[in-house]
Amino acid sequence: MMKTIIEPFKIKVVEPIRMTTRKEREHILEKAHFNPFFIHSKDVIIDLLTDSGTAAMSSKQWGGVMQGDEAYACSESFYHFERVVKELTSYHYIIPTHQGRAAERILFHVAIRNLGAEQAVVPSNTHFDTTRANIEYVGAKAIDLPTEEGKIPSLRKPFKGNMDIEKLENVIQEQGAKKIPLIMITITNNSNGGQPVSMENLKAVRKIADHTQIPFFLDAARFAENAYFIKLREPGYEHKSVKEIAQEMFQLSDGCTMSAKKDGLANMGGFLGLNNRAWAQKARSLLILTEGFPTYGGLSGRDLEALAQGFKEVLEEDYLRYRIRSIEYFGEKLLAMGIPIVEPPGGHAIYIDAKAFLPHIPSAEFPGQALVNELYLVAGIRAVEIGSVMFGKNATMELVRLAFPRRVYTQSHVDYMLECMEEIVKNKKHLRGFRITQEEPYLRHFTAHFERL
Ligand code: F0G
Repeated sequence: MMKTIIEPFKIKVVEPIRMTTRKEREHILEKAHFNPFFIHSKDVIIDLLTDSGTAAMSSKQWGGVMQGDEAYACSESFYHFERVVKELTSYHYIIPTHQGRAAERILFHVAIRNLGAEQAVVPSNTHFDTTRANIEYVGAKAIDLPTEEGKIPSLRKPFKGNMDIEKLENVIQEQGAKKIPLIMITITNNSNGGQPVSMENLKAVRKIADHTQIPFFLDAARFAENAYFIKLREPGYEHKSVKEIAQEMFQLSDGCTMSAKKDGLANMGGFLGLNNRAWAQKARSLLILTEGFPTYGGLSGRDLEALAQGFKEVLEEDYLRYRIRSIEYFGEKLLAMGIPIVEPPGGHAIYIDAKAFLPHIPSAEFPGQALVNELYLVAGIRAVEIGSVMFGKNATMELVRLAFPRRVYTQSHVDYMLECMEEIVKNKKHLRGFRITQEEPYLRHFTAHFERL
């Protein structure tokens, strides 16, 4: 067998990248108030802001787009989508939504309003921001229970995305099962370095769910990447197909919210999967209110076709091998340069520990923002700060996330990113912190203005 792992696709359609000079970029950054969310994408050379909705679709997906059935009710494209998703997940009810957070909003409305919102508590390994916001919006409390090893960036362990089972048992004991509308597990754990969750951990949560009668839900945005990590790392799964592993993960749960903008390999879409009939009925009523009829839920027929095909392709092991290896390759080279990252490399992104990398810049001067700006200035790379800019005083780490869009960039793009990091390492002592000159009270990172110190 050949050792070199190549991109397992040929390029049929290309989108030109406009090259810019450092001088142009200095000007662009100033105009964007040193906040990459304000940089026009035409001015970005490599865009690592997110892996969400940024995948390149295959020729089969584009073929499906042409065949989308745009009927308002009972579109064939919905039934195609539903067949594929049911075969994967085994859930009884599949409710399409325009993206993940719409599924979250509906789920928490149904599950928490049922209980009496004031007291409800929803534990997770780590909630994604929109999940937490949707729980808090209906008046409940979202709590994160990552394992102790999951909190140490430089520690190499196979399943740092896991939930701390002992802490979960304690929370259930303290609160009482009646106050917990559901337990949630995010696979992979995006807010904790894109680290995977083991099947063993999912089984342990299932056992508790059976015991306490608390429903168990997955936030399944990156389910295929998680399943592939289980195949690589968990004893007993090396000979199973990724699809079988994914099916087993879903079968351990009672439902899921899905942002199909990640492992759906499409630009838009999501769904809510449920086994509980009463919940499904309530969810569909809410869906009609804001998303649309239950066979389209805010999506076009063509989106549903692209997703049906995307859910098949994302489980192809040649694809996943290339996907996980590209990120690992980037991470390993950064480590060899002495750049501290969250280890081991996660499934969709590399998270640089900006605080350890730029120790001369205190948290109050946003070391992550300093690095994000330097990445753009040196090479036109757009990344995102996940630290004190995003979370204010609640930030526990100063990270910079470089998220890889699916099937978009090749190894030479990654080598270009590495050359950029080499430049930054040489010059890092001269990097300066930032000051916020203008901000909004909520989610300030999207719109804040900055000034170099
Ligand atoms: N859950 C997880 C784990 C996510 O990463 C995201 C989105 C969502 C839910 C919400 O899904 O965007 O379709 O409404 N994450 C993107 C990111 C935005 O950049 O990590 P959505």
